[in-house]
Amino acid sequence: METHYARIGGEAAVRRLVDRFYDLMDQQQEFKGIRELHAKSLKASREKLFLFLSGWLGGRQLYVEKYGHPRLRQRHLPFAIGEPERDQWMSCMVQAMHDIGLEEGLREELKRAFWKTADFMRNKE
Ligand code: HEM
Repeated sequence: METHYARIGGEAAVRRLVDRFYDLMDQQQEFKGIRELHAKSLKASREKLFLFLSGWLGGRQLYVEKYGHPRLRQRHLPFAIGEPERDQWMSCMVQAMHDIGLEEGLREELKRAFWKTADFMRNKE
């Protein structure tokens, strides 16, 4: 079976997705809550999410090669993440997937997969 990485369109498309995701987070009022959890510059976040998603989607494990095991939940503990933050992150990603032109079936599959990871990051009531 083809990986999500291949179906999205490989490296260039993963970059486009991550860039659109952080552009939206930076520009849209509805994502202000999660934008404020991030550093002033989103440059490092863009690079790290790109490296992480490459492996998460079934491509090369670039994040692991560079930084080792992601321990994603632990890395998110310094940020208060509840349902509103999870839902903002999800809306931002859903919009980004739409904006870069992914087909609907693929978007739905990825949405379910992203939701599980996003929900796992919750660390407050
Ligand atoms: C549930 C809502 C989420 C919130 C509010 C959130 C927020 C954050 C914040 C504030 C950072 C630190 C960035 C900085 O220092 O500027 C971060 C890092 C990161 N996030 Fe999330 N995140 C969420 C979900 C996710 C999900 C679902 C994924 C993956 C599918 C993800 C992947 C990452 C990665 C790879 C990093 C970089 C980790 C590192 O420092 O090496 N996040 N996130």
